Amino acid sequence: MFQTRITEMFGIRYPIICGGMFWIGRAELVAAVANAGGIGFMVGSTFGEDLNALRAEIRKARDLTDGPIGLNINLFPSARPQPIEEWVRITIEEKIPVVETSGRSPEAIVQPLHEAGVKIMHKVPGVRYARTVERLGCDAVAIVGYECGGHPGMEMVTSLVLVPLCADAVNIPVVAGGGFADGRGLVTALALGADAVLMGTRFMATKECYGHPAWKEYMVKASEADTAYVMRSVGNPIRVAKNALTDKVLEMEGRGTTIQELLPVIGGAPNVAFEKGEVENTFVSVGQSMGLVQDVPTVQELFDRIIEQATEVRQRLDGIVPTKAAAS
Ligand SMILES: Cc1cc2nc3c(=O)[nH]c(=O)nc-3n(C[C@H](O)[C@H](O)[C@H](O)COP(=O)(O)O)c2cc1C
Repeated sequence: MFQTRITEMFGIRYPIICGGMFWIGRAELVAAVANAGGIGFMVGSTFGEDLNALRAEIRKARDLTDGPIGLNINLFPSARPQPIEEWVRITIEEKIPVVETSGRSPEAIVQPLHEAGVKIMHKVPGVRYARTVERLGCDAVAIVGYECGGHPGMEMVTSLVLVPLCADAVNIPVVAGGGFADGRGLVTALALGADAVLMGTRFMATKECYGHPAWKEYMVKASEADTAYVMRSVGNPIRVAKNALTDKVLEMEGRGTTIQELLPVIGGAPNVAFEKGEVENTFVSVGQSMGLVQDVPTVQELFDRIIEQATEVRQRLDGIVPTKAAAS
């Protein structure tokens, strides 16, 4: 059951992955995902230059689970230089089995991680990047569509199109992300040719995810249309919860703006959604699958539901799609 190249490679029971989520993907969430049979990623940049805090969070997760703990190494261009070499060193020293990279080519860190036996899943928003990921020797590629939380990329192509194209384009295992939130999504991802599903938004609305209850309540009430795709005009698109601030950013982009003009506008609004539950004047990343979020379960409850629904879908499909033998 549910055996794929990814479950084998990452040593997990279910092909369900929780992508790294800056600020909120912490020990409790990642450990809960591991205990439920998947793998999740903490994000190195959450801890800024405080490398001891990152180490402590990894050890905290270890205390909460015997399952695999992943680390996201964020390679996105950043105003301040990021301690990428230190993240790699911590990964190796703390015996993290899988790293998720994103944002820029992971070329410089493939060799040291591989020499230490660490698997690398690089995340991309387009098929042409997936080919590069394979050429660089990464172990898996995660591809995220336009509907995703985080950075959907410039081309605005949805997962339904990207995942099968990616599965055709590369031989390494493919992980499908962007818009997946339940058992139907899991079966769909596998049907499209993926070896696992990657979710962020759905995991944000779980009990173990860091974040103010009012923010999670907002997610439950909000619809699939309550996100905005912003910052494309400055080459760094991101999908966030729609609010007065995103209206302002889109208006600035509409009349032509620069990253220098935008930074004070968005930089002045830190993660008040996660800390205080205020959603009107903040830039908070979330995907369109927020529309599929109807409650705030524990991670274990979410996994149970996904697996149960996936098996129901499979049964339903058995009555609709004939096997090759029956069709001929
Ligand atoms: C709040 C939030 C923060 C995120 N932070 C990161 C990050 O720091 N690094 C990264 O590679 N991806 C990040 N992502 C993207 C997720 O790892 C994942 O690719 C995405 O959420 C999948 O799409 P979905 O939201 O439709 O499930 C973030 C997503 C969200 C919602």
